[in-house]
Amino acid sequence: MKVGILTGGGDCPGLNAVIRGVIRCTNSEFHGEVVGFLNGYKGLIENNIKKLDANADSGLLQRGGTIIGTSNRDNPYSYAETIGGKRVIHDVSDRVVQTYNDNKLDCLIVVGGDGTLSTATKLCNKGLNIVGVPKTIDNDLSATDFTFGFFTAVNIVTEAIDRLKTTAESHDRVMVVEVMGRDTGWIALYSGLAGGANIVLIPEIPYDIEKVCQKIYERKSRGMNFSIIVVSEGAKPLDGDVTIKRMVDDPTTGSRYGGVGNIIGDKIEEITSIDTRTVTLGHIQRGGKPTAFDRILCTRLGVEAVQMAKRGEFGKMVCLKTPNLESAPLEEASKTRIVNLDNQMILTARSIGISFGDQ
Ligand code: F6P
Repeated sequence: MKVGILTGGGDCPGLNAVIRGVIRCTNSEFHGEVVGFLNGYKGLIENNIKKLDANADSGLLQRGGTIIGTSNRDNPYSYAETIGGKRVIHDVSDRVVQTYNDNKLDCLIVVGGDGTLSTATKLCNKGLNIVGVPKTIDNDLSATDFTFGFFTAVNIVTEAIDRLKTTAESHDRVMVVEVMGRDTGWIALYSGLAGGANIVLIPEIPYDIEKVCQKIYERKSRGMNFSIIVVSEGAKPLDGDVTIKRMVDDPTTGSRYGGVGNIIGDKIEEITSIDTRTVTLGHIQRGGKPTAFDRILCTRLGVEAVQMAKRGEFGKMVCLKTPNLESAPLEEASKTRIVNLDNQMILTARSIGISFGDQ
């Protein structure tokens, strides 16, 4: 059994643990061979490989990032390259098929988000045997209960909130913490609950800045002179839109989110005259070691991806349906799961007095 693996899209804690699961299962259970394609689809297009033998798995369980690199730009169906001094964007998916065949692969395991996995769906239609492993810290895929990397990101934010709380309390300040999550508020919601935030602003619940300030005043009237606000990068005001830092030449997103935390912090200071600071956690949320939960989940996902390949279950991805792993068609990777207003986590948060800036 010869297995190829690539990681695509933004990195995520646990990618290396998935790779380790794939290497170990392929070697010990099926006496097979694994090759990694470097930097996402670019490695497949250019046949740039790294042999992942039985010893290559050492130290991978706890290592952040991905040892085979990643990219969210190199889509084989719209690949940019310079030919004869001219920059062209064209379909090079036949090169991917060539690489797959040249390496005599039995299957390819693609670890990525919706963009990477929707490209994988198209490649399946060209005859490649692909098994997907969904990945994103945003936890916004409906096919799986939780995506790996999510709880690691939540832990990192929670730790940051704990630290910010002591300085906020010492100075009687409002601290605004901007977190990732794109158009869903999972990271903000879970870390807000875990860290004991007072206000959580998520894209699914447009906020009213006056209501946000009311909550701060209400706390102050009880002698609580500091407040912690967790803001999802995609949060938007009632009468406004998401804050875009910059438009980019990135086929998956097209825009970079960021800056809403500063806008909210400035507004709060202007309205309340309370000293306010904003911290944007950014890519810290994606770096470093995965938590124990994510290490176990990633190991299971890597092993199950190999088992699915062995059973010939191609065109599918492995999903967590607690407590089991199941599979779903690769197409389902593009179905987004947002935070519904009747989600129990929202109701729990409201019951303990967390404000979402809407009431
Ligand atoms: O999708 C994961 C994510 O971390 C989002 O939460 C964030 O908006 C985006 O990726 C950042 O992407 P990049 O690494 O390209 O800046």
